[in-house]
Amino acid sequence: MKLKELKHNFTETLSEVYPSEEIQSFFSILSEKYLNLARVQITLEADKEIDSTILKKFETALARLKKQEPIQYIVGDTEFYSLTFNVNKNTLIPRPETEELVDWIIEDSVSEKRSNYSILDIGTGSGCIAISLAKNLTSATVSALDYSFEALKTAEENAKLNNVTVQFFQKDILKVGTLPQQYDVIVSNPPYVRELEKLEMQSNVLDHEPASALFVSNSDPLLFYRTIARLSLRYLKPNGKLYFEINEYLSKELIDSLKQEGYPNIELRKDFRGKDRILLCRKSK
Ligand SMILES: C[S@@+](CC[C@H](N)C(=O)[O-])C[C@H]1O[C@@H](n2cnc3c(N)ncnc32)[C@H](O)[C@@H]1O
Repeated sequence: MKLKELKHNFTETLSEVYPSEEIQSFFSILSEKYLNLARVQITLEADKEIDSTILKKFETALARLKKQEPIQYIVGDTEFYSLTFNVNKNTLIPRPETEELVDWIIEDSVSEKRSNYSILDIGTGSGCIAISLAKNLTSATVSALDYSFEALKTAEENAKLNNVTVQFFQKDILKVGTLPQQYDVIVSNPPYVRELEKLEMQSNVLDHEPASALFVSNSDPLLFYRTIARLSLRYLKPNGKLYFEINEYLSKELIDSLKQEGYPNIELRKDFRGKDRILLCRKSK
């Protein structure tokens, strides 16, 4: 089969499930992965014969896309902060909003050259935050925890892939009473989507991404933030900083709650979509 026929069949098969722009984007991601062809070459090489092994790969990907599985899980990786991260069903797919959180921390920390400057990422998943920080803040010591053993395995692979050192450890943040040391920066993008928000979500997220990375109860959606804020009061160094990614609908309640926990000085930033998304809490002493 020629490349142009493959593209035609691919587009036809998915046309009832996705808009055409998205289908073209999937085709180009898969062509790059399986055929090593850049987007422009797809048109230039339209008459290229595709062998049966490659056709099988496209067929498998097509079947998974029809079930609305995210393309990142199908190809096995994604890009975050200009780095490549392996992802799978045990890890959340890193979101562009989270890049803004990383950006903020780098901006605030880049002039720090202390050899004992230390950062902890809570709920690391693929390791995207911790690894991007380690890559860009080369004199910092970066640690990261998650309660999912499988996620930590992927995060470790990702640290190797990106040639950085991050100390990963397995802990349930809702159960630990202690952390191994004091930190200059603690950062977390914890689960924050309320069960009631499931109605607004698409099945590519709901059916495929790990629910334990996303959802919190309707009755106590700020549980992770309160727990991490309390621990951070004890485990941040004087003038240490606590950064959070947050639920856009809960920014007011969250800021009130964090003030009550002992952080009078809180800065909120919106994401590129104009939604309340990232917070910095400064420890006063
Ligand atoms: C929203 S995801 C964030 C993943 C990654 N940091 C990112 O920004 O893409 C939340 C992460 O918290 C982890 N997590 C959930 N409950 C936890 C708990 N009780 N203790 C530690 N980690 C937990 C999940 O496994 C998941 O990796």
